[in-house]
Amino acid sequence: MGKTRIRGIGRCIPSNVVTNDDLSGRMDTTDEWIQQRSGIQQRHHIDSDCGAADLGAEAAREALERAKTRLEEIDCIVFATLSPDYDMPSSACVLQSRLGLTGVPAFDVRNQCTGFLYGLTVADSFLQSGRYGKVLLVGGEIHSTGLDFTDRGRQVAVLFGDGAGAAVLERGPSDDRGILSTHLHSEGSFAEKLWLEAAASRGETRLDEEMIAGEDPKIFPKMQGRYVFKHAVTRSIEAIREAVEANGYSVDDIDLLVPHQANLRINQAVAMTLEFPEEKVVNNIQGLGNTTAATIPLALYDALEDGRLTEGQLVCLVAFGAGFTWASALLRW
Ligand code: UT7
Repeated sequence: MGKTRIRGIGRCIPSNVVTNDDLSGRMDTTDEWIQQRSGIQQRHHIDSDCGAADLGAEAAREALERAKTRLEEIDCIVFATLSPDYDMPSSACVLQSRLGLTGVPAFDVRNQCTGFLYGLTVADSFLQSGRYGKVLLVGGEIHSTGLDFTDRGRQVAVLFGDGAGAAVLERGPSDDRGILSTHLHSEGSFAEKLWLEAAASRGETRLDEEMIAGEDPKIFPKMQGRYVFKHAVTRSIEAIREAVEANGYSVDDIDLLVPHQANLRINQAVAMTLEFPEEKVVNNIQGLGNTTAATIPLALYDALEDGRLTEGQLVCLVAFGAGFTWASALLRW
């Protein structure tokens, strides 16, 4: 048996499109500012009562179909999300129930923008050790119900979108295709640079009246944007170099770079510093915004659909996010 392969990818994007002009009707922002600073033109927000696991379940069904895999063949579910349906139980368990798959282990990976790559590493380890045969890995987020759409929250609220991507993983035949290596890092001393403080177990009470009234900024994500931006560029570059060097390659050998989608300018700065051609970088933030744990499977999905991702390519995945955490993976597709 060989390396771990992504057999099929699926996605679910809510149909409700929210343009920059829609947002400028709700807060002090403009289409020009959002596009110039982030590259985002629109994002999708749910418009009905649904959770991250609902989007994840739809993405999972498509991934299973594309992988030609029956639901019953899955023997582990890993769900990467920062916006779980509930504080407990895990969204993985909710998704398991939505899919109607009983008994197999299901758990969440709460690692924000790097969640999919952390989940990929966990899944790869399970598969390579022989513990499980097929793993369903999902990245799914609903941001729109947790953002501050007043002027106070404009720096963050314009960036994020809802969506889910899913992948079916299994070991392939003994050849050089599949996951070559993954690389994970974190630095918790930067936790307060990008965080969501409440509701949480720390503090006298998880929810007080101010929070319930939506008046306490602690209940919304906060970010020191420029600080995070600089670290994102530096750490992404490091992680890409680490992935190729670990496998005896150079950055020039990468056929397709699939980065996390936090800001088009971050991905452009990474490509420019590495002198890596921009046409080999997959970006879809323009239409989807930042969907955190879902960005990488959604970008892979698009690259497969538009024919940019093909068999035999050397593909590098990279992500950076809250924690700080950063991660990369190198695959022979
Ligand atoms: O996925 C997790 C990782 N996340 C990231 O990597 C995101 C990293 N950071 C960023 O992408 C960028 O820092 C942002 C897109 C968040 C912000 O862009 P920026 O170029 O760093 O702008 P800034 O925060 O320095 O703000 C510049 C100005 C400020 O006004 P003054 O002080 O210059 O008068 C802000 O108040 O833009 C103002 N501003 C806005 N104006 C219109 C902030 N948000 C908005 C807005 N619309 N939505």
